[in-house]
Amino acid sequence: MTGTEAALHAEPAAAIAGAAGDLVRLRAWRDADRAPFAALNADAEVMRHFPAPLSPAQSDAMIDRIVAHHHRHGFGLWALEVDGRFAGFVGLSTATFDAPFTPAVEIGWRLARWAWGRGAATTAARRVLDAAPRFGVDEVLSFTATSNARSAAVMRRIGMVRDADSDFEHPNVPEGSALRPHVLYRWRPSAPPPTTRERGMPPSA
Ligand SMILES: CC(C)(COP(=O)(O)OP(=O)(O)OC[C@H]1O[C@@H](n2cnc3c(N)ncnc32)[C@H](O)[C@@H]1OP(=O)(O)O)[C@@H](O)C(=O)NCCC(=O)NCCS
Repeated sequence: MTGTEAALHAEPAAAIAGAAGDLVRLRAWRDADRAPFAALNADAEVMRHFPAPLSPAQSDAMIDRIVAHHHRHGFGLWALEVDGRFAGFVGLSTATFDAPFTPAVEIGWRLARWAWGRGAATTAARRVLDAAPRFGVDEVLSFTATSNARSAAVMRRIGMVRDADSDFEHPNVPEGSALRPHVLYRWRPSAPPPTTRERGMPPSA
């Protein structure tokens, strides 16, 4: 492994990473991801539902924050590969901005345009949601600008449920911006089926 290929934090468990040869893989970030990540963060279409595209320096700083989050929490936004090529991220992050539902753990995704339309975000996000309880996360949220239909579609595909009562104005988006109103979706792991004792039935029933 060369210096640029070294993982910047722990690799995810196999249940999150996927199996060798899968179309979609999740892995730890590497310094080699900085250039393709800067390219997708500079793409106006990828960043259409954010206030602005990111400069290379802002993109690098985001990777540094993501890596620090992994070190601090033991989970985070993982680097995504599609067909063996870096394509963006899917994963979990802590939301701490001021809102009635924070602090919370959110699931998020950002893919280069060439990787859209193949189910890659959905495939990776399903793995991440399934694994969330192992990080002690008992509820996962996701939110996006009201206009971001593609992102909300991923939320619904992975089984998240809209909580319209919790839709909100994102405090980090300037007032008056069309991107400020956000929709909020929630997910909890399904409860295990009740035991016979919990159902109040005799053990042999
Ligand atoms: C949001 C985003 C990740 C969605 O990507 P996506 O590729 O549309 O999402 P999915 O992985 O669910 O793929 C769904 C598409 O793949 C198709 N598809 C093919 N195989 C599929 C499969 N096995 N499972 C699900 N969908 C599949 C679906 O039909 C759908 O096609 P469509 O584009 O014609 O509707 C992507 O648009 C993106 O990165 N946007 C920019 C960043 C952003 O806005 N992030 C969210 C901020 S909150």
